[in-house]
Formats: sequence, structure tokens, C-alpha cells
Amino acid sequence: MLIRIPPRSRCDSSEITPESVYLSRRRFMGAGAALLGSAALPVWAQAQAPASGYEGVEPGNPPGWFAQKLDGARWKAMEVAGESITPFQDASHYNNFYEFGPDKGDPAANAGGLPTEPWTVKIDGAVGKPGQYSLEDLVQPHTLEERIYRMRCVEAWSMVIPWLGFPLGDLLKRAEPSSKAKYVSFETLSDPEHMPGQKSRFGLIDWPYREGLRMDEAMNPLTILAVGMYGRVLPNQNGAPLRLVVPWKYGFKGIKSIVRISLVEEQPYTTWQNLAPNEYGFYANVNPQVDHPRWTQARERRLPSGLFSPNVRDTLMFNGYGDEVASLYQGMDLAKYY
Ligand code: MTE
Repeated sequence: MLIRIPPRSRCDSSEITPESVYLSRRRFMGAGAALLGSAALPVWAQAQAPASGYEGVEPGNPPGWFAQKLDGARWKAMEVAGESITPFQDASHYNNFYEFGPDKGDPAANAGGLPTEPWTVKIDGAVGKPGQYSLEDLVQPHTLEERIYRMRCVEAWSMVIPWLGFPLGDLLKRAEPSSKAKYVSFETLSDPEHMPGQKSRFGLIDWPYREGLRMDEAMNPLTILAVGMYGRVLPNQNGAPLRLVVPWKYGFKGIKSIVRISLVEEQPYTTWQNLAPNEYGFYANVNPQVDHPRWTQARERRLPSGLFSPNVRDTLMFNGYGDEVASLYQGMDLAKYY
């Protein structure tokens, strides 16, 4: 069954996938699984003319449990009305993942060898039920949802990406946060052998990459942990096998390849705030009225973008998700808490 999240802003969920399309996808996935054993195929790959943005989507190399979760996923649980999905090729080849190098093409070129299975995630800190989970066990109780979100990088480029994930808040509830849980802290894998950037100390980053959210931000229904995109498992360069997606914040909050989630009492250390506190704040809410010290944040380049068609558009307050999240920051000076 397809479940709608009621639209309350420019994020429109009105175009829920018709049941016939959904069922044909499922049939196709069944046939594909029969052909390729446990490998899942991208859900759009069966279309004669693939929907815009999904051209060239490869199935990747998903673990068996991922294919099973896809079967029960809620497709198009949330969409961006009137804006095209960014081509998969751009979303998977124009990346920031400094563990694999500083250039936009480095993650796609260098992340392929990162072992993502088995993968464990530790949940600790101010929780009643701390634990160390295999990714399969972590995801198992949750229904995957396709959330099509805008992503706005602090560098003033943006994309529209169909993620597959589940609400972070649902996972945190399972861990039973105590009254001391005021923030959530996230940590990326440390693996200099497979992450060459961690050897080079690129840009003076104090590895591992770390990020954080306030507890109410983490519990907001828009905040998800993603295990896939474009109907397939996450490519390594996009943060396989588990990454954070917080669509109203700048992209650097979306920490990749997460191995630890800690509930803490104090505002946690975060990588970019530590590196350049005058340029990157803890909150990092998309805000066209608060410029980066070195460039304007009023406009953005929507990928694909080129010299002759730069595809520039106005940046939206909270990246267009204000109806859902503005109340979190009521009374706060957002120029101070950037
Ligand atoms: N997570 C880790 N571990 N390392 C990184 O370098 N870069 C961040 C974020 N998550 C980064 C990370 C930045 S700056 C951005 S804009 C997004 O990932 C980019 O996500 P994408 O490459 O999937 O578009």
C-alpha cells in the first residue's frame, strides 16, 4: 500500500505513483531478482523510456536484505513539485566525500573499493537501549520510503535526489532516549586503508568526519537515514551504506558512511564548524539571507549546469521546507546561529 505524507509546503506528495506502475515495478523486480539471483535492479529500469533523471541507473551490488526491503517500500512518499530529478550521472559523479579526495570526481573514482558489507552501527550515549547493530538489523524494523528532496550545498550548487530511507526519529525512539539526550552526534567510518583522504589529512580535517543535530531536528519527520537513491542501493561515493539526509540544511550536514550515532547532552563537535567556525555553523540551515563570508547564498546553480546554461535559481528559505521546520527556530537569530 502507498502511504502519503500530507503536503504542507512546496514539497508536494500529490503525484503518488499509480498502482498499476507500482505493481509493474514489483513484477519487474521479481523477474529481475530471478535473473540475477539476489541482486536488486533499479526500480525504474523496466521502463521503455526511463523517467527523467533515472537514465543510466545501475543496480549496484546490494546485499540480499536490500532487495527484500525494496519490495515493501513506499514509492514517492514525498516529491518536489515542478522540479526535475537531477540525472543519476550528476548525482553520482559530482560529489563531496573528502575521505576519497578533494575533487568532485574523486569519490566516484576512488570509493568503489570501500567494503560496505558487513557493516555495523553503534548506538550509544543517553539511551536506555545502547547497542551495536548490523546494518540489516538496524534497517529491518523500518519501511523504506522514497523521499524526493532538494539538496543545497553550502557551495551554492543544488540537486533534486530521490532517496530511499526511513525517519531517523523512528530509529532513535527504538533506542529509548533519556532526558539527557539533547543532541545527536554522528561519526563516519575510520578506514585510512580504503579512504585515502584520511591519510592525507586533506584540508586539516580531524578524521573521522563528524556531524550533529539538535534532538528536535533529529526527530523531525523530514530527517531520514538513507540506504539508497534512484531506486537502488547507495553508490559508495554517495555515502554507502548509510547516510544522513536533512533537506533544509546545507549538504555538509548529510554525513556519509555512518558507523556511530550517539545521543549526548552537549552540542557535539562537528567537522566543518571546527575547521572554519566563521564560515560553517552548527545549524547550517539553508538561508538565502545569510551569506557565506566569501559568496552569496541568495542564488544557487541547479545541476546539470554549464557555461551556456548555468541553470541558476533563487535559493529558498530552509530550502523550501519552512512549513515543516521554521517553528524549530522560533525566536532564534538565524544570522547568529547560522
Ligand atoms: N560525509 C563525509 N563522511 N565526508 C564528506 O566529505 N561531505 C559533505 C556531505 N557528507 C562529506 C560528507 C558535503 S560537503 C556534502 S555537500 C555532501 O556530503 C555531498 O553529498 P553528495 O556527494 O552525495 O552529493
